[in-house]
Amino acid sequence: MSTPIKPRILTGDRPTGPLHIGHYVGSLRNRVALQRDYDTYILIADVQAMTDNFEQPQKVRDNVLEVALDYLAVGLDPQQSTFVVQSMIPEIAELTVFYLNLVTVSHLRQNPTVKTEIAQKGYGESVPAGFFVYPVSQAADITAFGAALVPVGEDQLPMIEQTREIVRRFNTLYAPVLVEPKALVSETGRLPGLDGKAKMSKSLGNAMYLSDSADDVAQKVRSMYTDPNHLRVEDPGQIEGNTVFAYLDAFDPDKAGVAALKEHYQRGGLGDIKVKKHLLEVLEATFAPIRERRLAYAKDMGAVEQMVKEGTARGREVAAQTMQAARKAMRLDYF
Ligand code: TRP
Repeated sequence: MSTPIKPRILTGDRPTGPLHIGHYVGSLRNRVALQRDYDTYILIADVQAMTDNFEQPQKVRDNVLEVALDYLAVGLDPQQSTFVVQSMIPEIAELTVFYLNLVTVSHLRQNPTVKTEIAQKGYGESVPAGFFVYPVSQAADITAFGAALVPVGEDQLPMIEQTREIVRRFNTLYAPVLVEPKALVSETGRLPGLDGKAKMSKSLGNAMYLSDSADDVAQKVRSMYTDPNHLRVEDPGQIEGNTVFAYLDAFDPDKAGVAALKEHYQRGGLGDIKVKKHLLEVLEATFAPIRERRLAYAKDMGAVEQMVKEGTARGREVAAQTMQAARKAMRLDYF
C-alpha cells in the first residue's frame, strides 16, 4: 500500500529580526508539534518583509538565515519541514497579480491587521501600495503550496479570512483548483511585552528572543512588569495585567501550581522576586535546549544555507504545479 499523502501546512515569518518568545507561543510551538503529521512548508517571507523595509534590504538579507536558525533551534526538522525563501518563488508574485483582481480597495482598507499596522507606522494615506496589498500576496503564499492548515497567532486571522475569500472567488469564477485553508490559532493568547504592553515586538524594545543568552533572560525576567501597587511582600497583589503571570500561563506546564501561586499572590505574602525566580526556571526549561541547538547549528552556517536552498527548490516545484493549474483555470495556458 502506498503511503497516504499528508495534508499540507504553510506558514511563515517576516525576516526582519530574530524571532521572539511571542512567535514561539503564537505559532512555532504548534508547527513543531504538527510537522510529523503534515507536509510542512515554512516560508521565510522576505518579499513581505520588504513591503515595510524596502529601504533596508540588507537588514532583510541578514535576517533570512537568522530566522532559519530560529526554526532549527525550536526543533523544526528539515527532514520533515521545508524551509522556503519567498522571493525565490516567482509563482507567488505571479499569483498575487491575478488575485489582485479579486479584491477591492475598500475591502483591503478594512483589514484590521493592516489597519493597525498603517496606524502604528504612521503611513496614513501615504501607505506604500505594496504594503497595502500584502494580504493578497499572503493569500498567494498559502495557496501556492495548497495548504489546508495555517498555524498562526490570532493577529493573523484576517489574513486567513482574506485568503479564504480569494480562494472561493477564484474557484467559482474559473475552476475549483485552489485549496481553501483553515487557520490553526494557538491556544495561548497573545503574549504581552516585558513592559506589560499588549504586544511583544522588536520595534517596541520589549521582547525576549529565542537567541537570548541565559544572562539576557535572567536580566529580562528581573525587569518584567508586575503589579506596580504590590510594594511589600505582605500586600495583596494583582494578577490582571501582571506580565509574570501571563508568562506562567503560557509556559508553566503545572497548571495547578500556577493556580496556587496566583491565589497566594492575591492573598498577600508572595513577593515578586519569588514568582520571578520560578518563572525563570520555567523559561529556562523551555529555552535552554532551544538556545543550545541554536548555538550548535550556528557553527555551520553553510549547512543552514544548504538546507534553505534545498527546501526552496522543493517548494518551487509545488508552487509551479499550482501555477500551472491556476493558468489552466484562467484559460491562460497558451503553449
Ligand atoms: N504575515 C506574517 C507575519 O507578519 C508572515 C507571513 C507571510 C505568513 N506569509 C505567510 C504567515 C503565510 C502565515 C502564512 O508574521
